[in-house]
Amino acid sequence: MELHNSEGMLEQLAALIRDWDGSVPRRYCHLANASALLAEHLGDINWVGFYLVDDSGQNLMLGPFQGKVACTDIPFSRGVCGLCARTGKSVRVDDVHAFADHIACDSASNSEVVAPLVDAKGRVVGVLDVDSPTLSRFTLEDQKLLDDAAKIISQLLYS
Ligand code: SME
Repeated sequence: MELHNSEGMLEQLAALIRDWDGSVPRRYCHLANASALLAEHLGDINWVGFYLVDDSGQNLMLGPFQGKVACTDIPFSRGVCGLCARTGKSVRVDDVHAFADHIACDSASNSEVVAPLVDAKGRVVGVLDVDSPTLSRFTLEDQKLLDDAAKIISQLLYS
């Protein structure tokens, strides 16, 4: 299944968060709405949301999301999210059970894509994580679209 920027999802995302006023609470407000918009548009997913770099700069902390209760803290050294945060590149996993270091938050998850959020200086400030109950749910095209969504969020909320 491919996403194909259905109904102009990226344009809607940009319109939704364009008017950020620079305040930290409102950044979380926009991230919450971004997770809801993505959940509405992406079919066959069971979790979508954000992990944000905490004050230590070494860990990811659970941010706004749609889905089941999830683990709150992920060190950069662990999991698919940690790999994305370490490398600053998106990661697409066809079978999370074959990914040695996968952190299972929701046992329904079978495949996932994680894309980096990056500030104006190129530092990773968080990740966008999308999980599906279907093996190999995400195509390269899907990964590109989620990368683009993460770039829009980065430019509008972290630059
Ligand atoms: N699967 C992720 C952990 C986050 S949950 O899926 C919401 C990982 O291995 O990094």
